[in-house]
Amino acid sequence: MDDFEDKARQAMANPRNVGEMEDADAVGTAGSADCGDMLRMWLKFTEKDGRKVIDRASFQSFGCQTAIAVASMATELLKGKSVEDARNLSPDDLTGDLGPLPPMKIHCGELVEGALHNALGETAGNAVADPAPTLAQSLSARTTGTIRIVPLDEEEK
Ligand code: FES
Repeated sequence: MDDFEDKARQAMANPRNVGEMEDADAVGTAGSADCGDMLRMWLKFTEKDGRKVIDRASFQSFGCQTAIAVASMATELLKGKSVEDARNLSPDDLTGDLGPLPPMKIHCGELVEGALHNALGETAGNAVADPAPTLAQSLSARTTGTIRIVPLDEEEK
């Protein structure tokens, strides 16, 4: 097993910051038309030294193990980041200790990046406009494009 796969499995075994945030200040959703995965991220802001910074972040995902592992890492490293700094994080930055994503998994990191940018008020390429209150509603409300949800075997993720 390579280093990335090992770290991703470890992150998946105990993902951090999973679940809807009741008191969130912002929420963003992104979906991949390619694989059908979706991810939603909630952000709670606070003031620090006169700057708006991310106090907490959480996520829900209908996604692969990599997307969940990256979202887990990202929601940890977003804590204390200013909005501007968060906007400038690349998918590779968001992977944190997981390290660079393998080429086949780059879109998984982009899904996390898309949800983050959507939550920060930007429209990333894969962000879902006007997100519904829940991921399930986002899926059923989506009227454009095609989302195909395929249960993946654990070894395929
Ligand atoms: Fe679709 Fe990882 S986000 S396979």
